[in-house]
Amino acid sequence: MTEGPEPPSRIVAAGVSRVLPGVVPVTLVRDIDLTIGRGEFLAITGPSGSGKSSLLYLLGALDLPTAGVVDIDGTVTSAVDGEALATLRLRKIGFLFQFHFLLSEFTVIENMLIPMRRKGGTTVRKMRERAMAILASLHLDGEAAKKPDQLSGGQRQRAALARALANDPDYILADEPSGNLDTRNAALVFDMLDRLVREEQRTVIAVTHDIVLAERARRRVHLRDGRIVEDRVRTA
Ligand SMILES: Nc1ncnc2c1ncn2[C@@H]1O[C@H](COP(=O)(O)OP(=O)(O)OP(=O)(O)O)[C@@H](O)[C@H]1O
Ligand SMILES: [Mg+2]
Repeated sequence: MTEGPEPPSRIVAAGVSRVLPGVVPVTLVRDIDLTIGRGEFLAITGPSGSGKSSLLYLLGALDLPTAGVVDIDGTVTSAVDGEALATLRLRKIGFLFQFHFLLSEFTVIENMLIPMRRKGGTTVRKMRERAMAILASLHLDGEAAKKPDQLSGGQRQRAALARALANDPDYILADEPSGNLDTRNAALVFDMLDRLVREEQRTVIAVTHDIVLAERARRRVHLRDGRIVEDRVRTA
C-alpha cells in the first residue's frame, strides 16, 4: 500500500459569490477569498444581513456557490453529488446553531448517537463510551439521560456542542452559538470553543454579533454587504 501525501486540512473559498436567482436576484455574498487552516479560531462579524450565515453555510457545504469554489480538504463542494456532500459534512464538520436543534423526543446521549450511527465504523458500545467522554468534558455527564427540555439554556447549548463533537469533526461551524444565552453562559461556550482549538487543534468558525466574544478569536473577518471588508489576525 502506498501512502500519498497528507490530504490538505483547510477550507478555501476562492472568488465565491452566492446569488439567489429571481426576478430581482439577491446577492448573499460576493467575491469571497478566504483560507482557513487547521487550528484556526475565526470569528465572522458584521451587521445583520451582511451575509454571515450565508458565508458559513457555503464554508460548511450546506449551500453551494453560484460563482467561485469552496474547497474542503481537497473536495470542491460544487463538484460532487449531494450524497458525497452529506458524507463530507458527517465526517468532518460539526454544526452549532443559536437555537440548539436537538431532537426533543430523544435524550442528550441519543441525540449524539444518531449522527454517530449514521457514520458507523464502530460498535454502539464504543460510541456510547465516546459520547459519555465528550459529555464529561463539557460537564454534562449527569445530564446524558435527560431530554433537552429538562436542561437549562446553557446546558442545552453545551449538549448541542456535544452533539456537534460526536463524530470527532475537524471543523466546528457555529452560527451565533451564544446568541440565545446570558453573558456567563455565552462566555462558557466560547471558552469551550477556544479549548477545542488550543487543546485539540480543531478549527472553529463562529459567527457572532458579540464584539467582546469576537475578540476571543485569534482571527476576525468582518463582512459588509456580502463582502469581506476586514480580515485581521490578533497579534499577542
Ligand atoms: N432565502 C432568502 N431569500 C431572500 N433573501 C435572503 C434569503 N436568505 C438571506 N437573504 C438575504 O441575504 C442577505 C444575507 O443574509 P444572511 O442571513 O447571510 O445575513 P446575516 O449576516 O447572517 O444576518 P443576521 O446577523 O441577521 O443573522 C440579507 O440581506 C438577507 O436578507
Ligand atoms: Mg445570520
